Amino acid sequence: MKPWKKPLKVGLVGATGVVGETFINILEEYALPISEFRPFASSQSEGQKLEVGGKTWTVQVLKPNCFDGLDMVFFSSGDDISKEWAPLAVKAGAFAIDNSNAFRMNADVLLLVPEVNGNLINESSKPQIIANPNCSTIQLVVPLKPLSDLFGIEDVTVSTYQAVSGAGLPGYDELLNQTKNFHQADHSFKAFPKQILFNCIPQIGSFGDDGFCTEETKIMNESAKILDLPNLNISAFTVRIPALNSHAEAVWVTLKKEVSKVDFTNALGNFDGLAVVDDDYPTPLEVSGEEPVFVGRIHQDKHNKKRWLMWVVSDNLKKGAALNGLQIAERLFS
Ligand SMILES: NC(=O)c1ccc[n+]([C@@H]2O[C@H](COP(=O)([O-])OP(=O)(O)OC[C@H]3O[C@@H](n4cnc5c(N)ncnc54)[C@H](OP(=O)(O)O)[C@@H]3O)[C@@H](O)[C@H]2O)c1
Repeated sequence: MKPWKKPLKVGLVGATGVVGETFINILEEYALPISEFRPFASSQSEGQKLEVGGKTWTVQVLKPNCFDGLDMVFFSSGDDISKEWAPLAVKAGAFAIDNSNAFRMNADVLLLVPEVNGNLINESSKPQIIANPNCSTIQLVVPLKPLSDLFGIEDVTVSTYQAVSGAGLPGYDELLNQTKNFHQADHSFKAFPKQILFNCIPQIGSFGDDGFCTEETKIMNESAKILDLPNLNISAFTVRIPALNSHAEAVWVTLKKEVSKVDFTNALGNFDGLAVVDDDYPTPLEVSGEEPVFVGRIHQDKHNKKRWLMWVVSDNLKKGAALNGLQIAERLFS
């Protein structure tokens, strides 16, 4: 990692959420030099104290001019808050790195996974909104990028197995509470459309008229944008499972040409941010807290020699959200 150019004044909207907490933890790991840290959350958390960079900072609510003087603001509080407040952060002269869905598909907003299309920004970029993709998109496009560059991609099919932390603190707490009271016949549920304990739910977000739910549409649209393959033939099916953290994806990718397993594996193994697991396979529990996108169970389809299957697992709070945001900051400020 290149050294940071200067001490930074950093805002974090959603500082008390699961992504916010992860962001704070990795600020320390990445040794970001912070001259000021301004955490924001809802009024219920106002006044809470947070430790960052060896100092204590007080959680504030959003108010006019609250971003004045900041270099960057990381937004992780949902679409509505980002829509209203991210443009104000830019107006105040800061980069707004937005973890919500609010701006991802806007033609004039960059949607970045640094290993894949980080070349679109550098230290001379002007303050703007930069969108962090959906967590399940991020871990998919990292392995697809070298395959696309080296062999070309005909089509992609992905089926996800997504942890409850992807639904924020309420999702995480719902599974823990149901687990504590597992002997009850009925469990109330709010964060998910059905009981998640002892279950899996083939719905993430709401359904559109086309039968796809919003998470599936995000994966398909965002992947095409990030990979700069507007006509990418991709189909996604998303499922919530009772894992606490880290998402897994079964991926079928058809290449434009036949390649050997060694070439396929080397293409992934040589790419920044990817870890190929050859002798075993990664699981959500094992990769939680880790940085890379892990790929295992690489094998060729029986009926189509250009088609490959792989199992892709990554920490949705880390590479799927906070770490990707910090890596965007790294491109801007180091
Ligand atoms: N979880 C993931 O894996 C993941 C991955 C990628 C993207 N995202 C996106 O990241 C965002 C946050 O997700 P999360 O999982 O961290 O959710 P979360 O755990 O529910 O946290 C939500 C955060 O937003 C804050 N907030 C709520 N109302 C607010 C307001 N009026 N003003 C300022 N802050 C407010 C909350 O503060 P209080 O604690 O005070 O309520 C909390 O800090 C969402 O847009 C989500 O789609 C999440």
